[in-house]
Amino acid sequence: EERSEVGLSCCQLDELKTLPQCDIKLGKLTFSKSHTVLIDVDSFRCGAIVPQDGRDLWLSSFVKMPCSPLSVSPKPDTQFGTFTFKSHSGPVSRWSLISEQLRAVAKKKAAKAEEVQKAILRYNPRYEREWSFDALPRYVKNDIENLYEKLFPKIAALALMLPDQVKKPIPLLQRHKPASITLSQVQISCLLANAFYCTFPHRNTTSSNAEYHNYPFINFSRLFGNWSERKNQKFKAIMHYFNVMTNEKAKPEGLVTFERRWLSDAEAPDWGKCTNTLHKLHVTSEGRIEGEDAQLLQQVDFAASRVGGGVLDSGLVQEEILFLMNPELIVARLFTEKLDKNECLIITGMQQFSCYSGFSDSFQWVGPYDDHLERDEWRRLKRQILAIDACHFRHPMEQYNMEKVRRELNKAYCGFKGHHGHEEPDIATGKWGCGAFNGDPELKAVIQLMAAAQARRGLAFFTFGDHHLCRRLQQTYHLLVTQKMTVAGQLYRHLEKYCALRNKPNFHEGLFDYLTKTQSQL
Ligand code: AR6
Repeated sequence: EERSEVGLSCCQLDELKTLPQCDIKLGKLTFSKSHTVLIDVDSFRCGAIVPQDGRDLWLSSFVKMPCSPLSVSPKPDTQFGTFTFKSHSGPVSRWSLISEQLRAVAKKKAAKAEEVQKAILRYNPRYEREWSFDALPRYVKNDIENLYEKLFPKIAALALMLPDQVKKPIPLLQRHKPASITLSQVQISCLLANAFYCTFPHRNTTSSNAEYHNYPFINFSRLFGNWSERKNQKFKAIMHYFNVMTNEKAKPEGLVTFERRWLSDAEAPDWGKCTNTLHKLHVTSEGRIEGEDAQLLQQVDFAASRVGGGVLDSGLVQEEILFLMNPELIVARLFTEKLDKNECLIITGMQQFSCYSGFSDSFQWVGPYDDHLERDEWRRLKRQILAIDACHFRHPMEQYNMEKVRRELNKAYCGFKGHHGHEEPDIATGKWGCGAFNGDPELKAVIQLMAAAQARRGLAFFTFGDHHLCRRLQQTYHLLVTQKMTVAGQLYRHLEKYCALRNKPNFHEGLFDYLTKTQSQL
């Protein structure tokens, strides 16, 4: 009978509100001070996606483009046979070096891994000793369909289109500056082709005084070295994406928006005083956040503060997998500064290109995904992800601390909070912060419920095969709802008491047990 009781409180998945059900009036696509649109909005109104004109800007608040006339390199030493002549003629345009190399690759029918490596190092000579390319020939060797060697030239050709595809400067989405960027899927593919060939200037050093040290790395160099089966599977997903995007007949024509949001201190709720009761919750141990049943909700990305985390390296958990299945997300790394505590990134319209199985070491690229989602008025697929980075607790005990709890509440709320008065879909989430980041799933579930209550949005909670958590969360939610446990307010005080107890020696009770006991004593 526990089930039926629980059924009274938790809801079914189809009771949650999906993106297509939200009546969002976008109005015509226009740019503004805080919304940069990289395509021509007038042509767009007539149905065409054409790059917006613009003038290159080599400034600290814009992406420094590889094709900028201001991007220069020392002239490389010219080699004649075994002789090297040191040149003394001063710097040359780096794009001329890049395009010379990429044109040489692009005109081939098939290019070898070594040729790709040679091209990349020619305009990145400083990294010749630092970067390893051992994985690249191995990917090619494992590629039974013989696709990669034919794709390398096509990716080079796509990268060469950069000066025609992206003419308007791309602003950086900087810390504490809420702003959005809308661009076409083709523009994204062209930027990613450049990332593949490691052309982005000033993006290869990660030292703390480097210009972009607060940004994720974008050039694909780390994907080419330190072979592992994980990377082999990742490479399949990436190459499949380029295979579609370099196929004139298959490449999609749509737009994607990247929006950085910031919750100022003044907007952060006073959690102890909030009066909302809990909102809708659906809990299941089956399926995944991005599964077909839930993909129409807003999907939470269990993010790193540098979005995409280890996607271009060896990381392979929820966020990295999401980025590999939807590779357009990777371009966020080009312009999104590290998220601060009260910030999130929302991406609308990216396409899913692949399917996978497994997780982490067992991850496998399974094959193409046929994306049939509807598009909105701005031709964006009705898919939205919310990137929020939980705290990484090196020691799990660190999390039973109200300052940390408030940090997580505000982070989740910053993402969940409605915006622009729009109707928002409900949210698909799960054990946010509870894998690589060592969070306590019970505490994090309560935190997300509180943030969702405050934002008046429903949650679909995927426990990812964890039956115990699924049942306990249903029971605890039922209890909180039947006790009309308000708000965040009451719950917040319970959390204060619980954290205080958790810090006492010999107290190991889980949060759900604690809440259950406390309630029955009332
Ligand atoms: N759907 C539902 N639940 C999932 C899914 C899914 N698709 N995938 C995983 N889980 P984790 P974190 C469950 O470790 O702790 C990355 O490197 C699964 O039980 O990805 O927030 C980022 O870039 C898993 O253990 O999230 C960050 O650097 C749990 O969710 C860092 O990891 C947590 O997934 C974030 O780590």
